[in-house]
Amino acid sequence: MRRTLIKHALQRDDFGATITVAGWIRTRRDSKGGFSFLEVNDGSSFASLQVIADGSLDNYESEVLSLNIGSAISATGELVESPGAGQRVELRATEITVFGYADPETYPLQKKRISFEKLRELAHLRPRTNTFGAVARVRNALAFATHRFFQDRDFLYLHTPIITASDAEGAGEMFQVTTLGNASSAGPDGTLDPAEDFFGRRTFLTVSGQLEAETYALALDRVYTFGPTFRAENSNTRRHLAEFWMVEPEMAFADNHDNADLAEDYLRYLVRHILDHCADDLAFFNRWVDEGLLERLELVAGSRFERVTYREAVEALQGSGEAFEFPVEWGSDLQSEHERYLTETTFGRPVIVTDFPFDIKAFYMRRNDDGETVAALDVLVPDVGEIIGGSQREERLDVLEDSIARKGLPAETYWWYLDLRRFGSAPHAGFGLGFERLVQFCTGMQNIRDVIAFPRTPKSAEF
Ligand code: 4AD
Ligand code: MG
Repeated sequence: MRRTLIKHALQRDDFGATITVAGWIRTRRDSKGGFSFLEVNDGSSFASLQVIADGSLDNYESEVLSLNIGSAISATGELVESPGAGQRVELRATEITVFGYADPETYPLQKKRISFEKLRELAHLRPRTNTFGAVARVRNALAFATHRFFQDRDFLYLHTPIITASDAEGAGEMFQVTTLGNASSAGPDGTLDPAEDFFGRRTFLTVSGQLEAETYALALDRVYTFGPTFRAENSNTRRHLAEFWMVEPEMAFADNHDNADLAEDYLRYLVRHILDHCADDLAFFNRWVDEGLLERLELVAGSRFERVTYREAVEALQGSGEAFEFPVEWGSDLQSEHERYLTETTFGRPVIVTDFPFDIKAFYMRRNDDGETVAALDVLVPDVGEIIGGSQREERLDVLEDSIARKGLPAETYWWYLDLRRFGSAPHAGFGLGFERLVQFCTGMQNIRDVIAFPRTPKSAEF
């Protein structure tokens, strides 16, 4: 079947041309004049194409009049200028082929609005709704823009492993990967012997590709990963998933200022890209999901980010007079409410917070001269809070060994990571952007479960 995508059909003005489109029925309206209007959507654009099905079609009575919401068809006919308001073109069908009906008694996606919560139980059908089609297109545009941004700047795309033996964040929030699942593989005392396991040791799903990315940055200078990561943290919030995607650039011969510059350029580039390429989808989100969205995106695309140290951030929060649920004091991690207050109220634009206390950050972050803080950075944006976390890496062997010991981590699993500091060590830095938090920020969708196709959260892995 030679097909025209609806997004292309909607832009044509060679009226009189014969084209074929295919898609799913959004609405059918029957006219008293003995013909029907079919609104057909194929997901290529937010807008649907109006197809006029005349009563003279062979299968008008037998098939067209049974087409309900969700039915799959193709339509061939003449592209004509539309007399109706709201669309430029329509298709006058000379032939309609029905591929699959959708029984209105049992097909759940009828015209009536369904809550996002209910749609999570219908994750296999929700891409056919306006909202989830738009999320998928914006997500795709952000992935494309990510590759373009890094490729244009000579970063090499690296595929890091998903199964790993080392805890990249040292936070112990990993899912174990094992084939020793049943009682018959247990020893006499009931325990499972890691040496008997598939890899001959304990292994996990990775929480980050960073440590492996560092090995390549210290050989190829600029690299980035873009892959799935996993966290077995029992967080039931609107911004945590157990499986999420992360973009992690890593640069050699770079410090935390270079890192902040890269993070800022990257975020601004992403937002500019979707403002330029996803106008219809963003207009929909701005109208139905989050009225402040476009204003917020324009703000990010157009402003320099604020840069403050953790100490300055804590002082600003303490001096704000705001009654937070969690108290703010030097040495405690910033909570979501604090992050949002800083970016939405204190500064009114994205904020890069740097130089956090050693005690609340990961072992690999470079120790500052004050001995108390590390060269970390978090990027905070309105509505979402932390969207990026990163740091300059500790390149001094003795300091890194000391950090690993002070965090109580097993030095032997990091032997290869320590080798990078033994042979040709160099300053380097990088960060991780949570891709779903980015999609949330760019669509205004409130719950992170609604910006990934099939969310994995505690007690939930259907589909
Ligand atoms: O701040 P995080 O934990 O940093 C790292 O993993 C570093 N290894 C990254 C690096 O320097 N290469 O995570 C990075 C980002 C966070 O800022 C957040 O946007 C996102 O990943 N993130 C999550 N997104 C969804 N669900 C979760 N459970 C997340 N945990 C972190
Ligand atoms: Mg973080």
